[in-house]
Amino acid sequence: QHDAAFDLKAHIRSVPDFPKPGILFYDISTLLRDGPAWKAAMARLADVVRPHRPKLLAGIESRGFLLAAPLALELGLGFIMLRKPRKLPGETIGFDYDLEYGTDRIEMQADAVAPGDRVVLLDDLLATGGTMAAGVQLLRKAGAEVPLAAAMIELAFLKGRERLDVPVQTLISYDS
Ligand code: PRP
Ligand code: MG
Repeated sequence: QHDAAFDLKAHIRSVPDFPKPGILFYDISTLLRDGPAWKAAMARLADVVRPHRPKLLAGIESRGFLLAAPLALELGLGFIMLRKPRKLPGETIGFDYDLEYGTDRIEMQADAVAPGDRVVLLDDLLATGGTMAAGVQLLRKAGAEVPLAAAMIELAFLKGRERLDVPVQTLISYDS
């Protein structure tokens, strides 16, 4: 069932000068709209995540949800949301982090994990690593153990993985 010849990069479109001049945007829309391609990509991600034996998968709003929720379903695991501020009801835990200009914050529900729960963190893209690092810190603050951070795409030239103190796995990598 596993298609080793499947070319994931061929299904990701690069869009120059989006969202700003000089930025090359790697767009997963073209992958998601192709059923067999999406399925093949998710199968690869499942193979990466499964050995870490998570209890839960966490996705980072919003594009991380597109991977983490279906993958959790595929693996028979629960799914939790790391969201932009003030989106989640009930008691929440937040983590503030620095951007190039200003700060940002992600939140999760305080009762989403029990102490020591193994939670694998997923996002579509690892760029500077700021978002993923914040996700790891937030999950730990909530009491989780994070055995792996995984993404479909890595912009290796931004060295995001160097900001992470957990094992990082990505399916494809770009050098520019
Ligand atoms: C993008 C991407 C990652 C993050 C990576 O999300 O989906 O979450 O940036 O960047 P970093 O490694 O430099 O932190 P974005 O903030 O554009 O929002 P979206 O997922 O809601 O589209
Ligand atoms: Mg995102």
